[in-house]
Order: sequence, then structure tokens, then C-alpha cells
Amino acid sequence: MAKKIVSDLNVRGKKVLIRCDFNVPMKNGVITDDTRIRAALPTIKYVIENGGKAIVFSHLGRVKQASDIEKNDITPVSVRLAELIEKPVKFVNATRGAELEAAVAELKEGEILMFQNTRYEDFDVEADKEVKKESKNNPELGAYWASLGDVFVNDAFGTAHRAAASNVGIAANIAETAAGFLLEKEIKFIGGAVDTPVRPYIAILGGSKVSDKIGVIEALLDKADKVLIGGAMMFTFLKAQGKNIGASRCEDDKLELANELLAKANGKIVLPVDAVVNKAFEDVPGVVKSVDGFDNDDMGLDIGPKTLELFAKNLEGAKTVVWNGPMGVFEMENYNKGTIGVCELLANLKGASTIIGGGDSAAAAEQLGYADKVSHISTGGGASLEYLEGKELPGIACVDEK
Ligand code: 3PG
Repeated sequence: MAKKIVSDLNVRGKKVLIRCDFNVPMKNGVITDDTRIRAALPTIKYVIENGGKAIVFSHLGRVKQASDIEKNDITPVSVRLAELIEKPVKFVNATRGAELEAAVAELKEGEILMFQNTRYEDFDVEADKEVKKESKNNPELGAYWASLGDVFVNDAFGTAHRAAASNVGIAANIAETAAGFLLEKEIKFIGGAVDTPVRPYIAILGGSKVSDKIGVIEALLDKADKVLIGGAMMFTFLKAQGKNIGASRCEDDKLELANELLAKANGKIVLPVDAVVNKAFEDVPGVVKSVDGFDNDDMGLDIGPKTLELFAKNLEGAKTVVWNGPMGVFEMENYNKGTIGVCELLANLKGASTIIGGGDSAAAAEQLGYADKVSHISTGGGASLEYLEGKELPGIACVDEK
């Protein structure tokens, strides 16, 4: 069944609660990547352009102790939002109380209000104690926030794998809940790949640890036609196959699991045939070696050119491609060719739906300039992994059906 979308709501004159995921990276109070704020603009614009009163909120970081409060002040996000949307954003430095309620009551059609980090509710300042009201979906808190609005729009895909007061708590206490345009897009692309992938369906997985991706590897072995593996996790698989991986990163306690996955894969797993190696973890030029020719002190830091050719062959004719996890140490110029190569392969695939899972691979694609050359880059890290695993995400389940 299809989910209700913000454009299905009549927002005119209504107080529209909009849950975004503005959990953006910050350094000393300065936002270092505003992708998630940009991604939320279509929904907020739609609401204000259609006469709604937008009440926008998000979590930022984790608030477990008093010192986390100042560190996770969300004010800079409201400033950036105002710049990007080219409209004033009234900021209330509270998550509840008289000032917030008065600001909501005064809000006019087409105006935007934003309130403080929802996770401030996770810490009780007076008792100096972590209480997790937001994160553990405290029923009073969800009902309180719901009472501030007439309708609820959830656009926070990055948080959709968490059942919090600011998503499922509000949804349980309000007349109507719809998905924002960003959540709609994530459902269309990731949900589409999970539920109704057009075949051939190829998954590309990277990153450093097999242990982070067990669920998703298992799910993809079931659903995808091929699973191409790169990143440091390839060495756990290669070692499990009996190869000498030298000094490469490896999870020795996952060798048995890697063997089980290989056996279960029935030929679906495609492993690298070469890698770029170095003698130390540093950004100096490496040497391309076959995975059968490592010396004991060789450390593999990227996939090699023959592997990219192999991946290209496996991607020929693909109709759905999902990629999660970089192919090597893409932050180092000497070891980013595998990740760039995969970006290129995806960018040049004709007629395929190409989806990049959030987290590091999304950051890599953005950083390397491929953001607009694929069908979809997810804004969710943990959420996109859990979604790909086929799990029901509470932040999506709580949205009304059409
Ligand atoms: C994310 O960045 O993955 C989401 O915003 C969720 O954040 P969390 O892991 O702190 O819940």
C-alpha cells in the first residue's frame, strides 16, 4: 500500500509539524556538510508555499550528559536553514514550555518556526541524569509535541530506524501523518529495491567490517543476483578462502561466518582479484598486486584495476544497483581509485536505477562529485542499512497509508 505524502494533506492554515533529520556533522559549532538540510527543503517549501505554518524540528548528536547540551545546540542549523530557504526561521531555544507554545500560537501561514534539539529531552538537567524521553519514545513527550500541531509530516529518513517520541510518538497522537518528499524518495528507491527490484539486481558492498554488514549481506544474498564485495571487508573473505592477505585489515573472528556466507552465496558473491597495497597505512603511492601474490607485510588499501573490470562486467545490463560502503581508503588520494571507479561505473550505467546507501559511500560520492550522476543517494546511514536488510522501519511504519 502507498503511504500518504505531504502533498496529499490540506496544509492551508494548519500548524504542520515537520520532523527532519538535521543530524549534520559540525566542527566547533560550524556545519561541515549541509546535505541533510538541503534535502529537507522541498517539503518545508511545499508546506509554506501552500499556506501551512511550518514547525520544524530534529535531533542533533546524542545528549547523555550535561556537557552534551551546549555541544549539540541546533541553533546553527536554523541559521543555515534560513539561508538556504531564503526566509526567516524563528528559533525557539526550548523543546517545550510557554515560550514555544506562544511562538506556535503566533505563527502565521507561510512562516517557519524551529525549536531546539529534540534530544535535549534525553537529559534531565535538574536531576543531572540521562532520561532518554525522546530516544525511548516517552508517551507524555510524543503527546505533548503532537498537541503543538494539527498534522504531522515525517521527513526524517536518517532516523526512521529509531522509534522516538519525535516520530512514532507524535504520529500516535495526531490526526494525520504523512511522509515528506525526502522520505517518499527514500521509500521509492530503497524500498523499491527491497520489495520489487527490476532485475538484474546487483549489490556492491564495501566498508571495513563484515560484522557491520552481516544482516545486509544475508538479505542481499537472498534478493540480489550478484553481490560484489570490496573495501577492507574483502580481506576477511579472501583469508577465509585461504589466501595470504599479508598485513591487511581482517576480522579473524568472522572467518567462519565469511565461509558460511560464501557457501550460502552459491556463486553470487564476487570478490576482488587485485588490490592496491602499501607497507603502511599512509597516503603514499601503492603497488597493484593480485590477491594471490601478497607479501606478508602488504596491506591492501583499495581494490585494483582488474577488479574494477570484473565489477564492470558484472554490472553490464543491470537494472537495479545498490551500493553501500567505500571500496578502499577513499580519504587518501592514492587509495580512492576503486571508489571513484565504482562511482564512474554507476554514473555510466544506462537505464538502471542506481542507489547509494548513506554513510561513507554517500559522503564519498558527494565528495568526489558524483552526487547528481546516480538515481538516488540516501540520507540515512544506519536507516538505509536496516531498510536494505528488509526490516520494517518505525519511522516509515508510523506514516498513514493513503
Ligand atoms: C544518523 O545520522 O544516522 C541519524 O541521524 C541517526 O542518528 P543516531 O545514530 O544518533 O540515532
